[in-house]
Amino acid sequence: MTRVVLIWIMFWVAMPVSMAMAAHPGVKVDDGLEFLPLCPQVRNTPGATDEFLRLKNPLNPSPENIFAGQTLFHFDAKPGPCRICHGISGNGLGILFRELTPSPRNFTCSKTMTTLPDGQLFWIIKNGSPGTAMPAFKNLDDEQIWQLIHYIRHFSKEEEH
Ligand code: HEC
Repeated sequence: MTRVVLIWIMFWVAMPVSMAMAAHPGVKVDDGLEFLPLCPQVRNTPGATDEFLRLKNPLNPSPENIFAGQTLFHFDAKPGPCRICHGISGNGLGILFRELTPSPRNFTCSKTMTTLPDGQLFWIIKNGSPGTAMPAFKNLDDEQIWQLIHYIRHFSKEEEH
């Protein structure tokens, strides 16, 4: 009897863990302690229309604009700060990442990020990505979105800001 109970308990402990791992097949576990960020990463987000893809960030990457983007990313953006999914260091391993399939974008991966024009990032932040956890940030104005884009881009640049 106790053995049956034990097996039952082990099943319910092991199943969610193995399901989470199966959902993130590319994520390697290093000694069971750390997840390595995915790079390059498969994108599940559709492409923006040409009208958006042509847009270039109109703001200077000034310390003020980058700082404003940083504050939104980590704390102020609604419905939730980008950090909870995209991670405090932008590598896609935020606190919610294990719950999410597909995984959030890894902004530190220049292989993926250099393929994405400014207008693509703008469009997805404004409208969200259906079929993924990426929400639409409808209450950010255009200037705030461009500030966020300057901040996101800094994760895949060599120099530190
Ligand atoms: C609840 C989780 C969550 C939050 C919060 C979130 N994202 Fe995402 N984000 C995702 C997921 C999941 C994807 C989809 C990855 C994919 O396409 O495979 C994504 C994709 C993206 C992309 C990639 C677009 C592309 O074309 O590849 C950008 C840019 C992005 N998010 C920016 C942001 C910004 C900026 C914020 C905060 C203002 C934010 N995200 C908040 C989960 C989140």
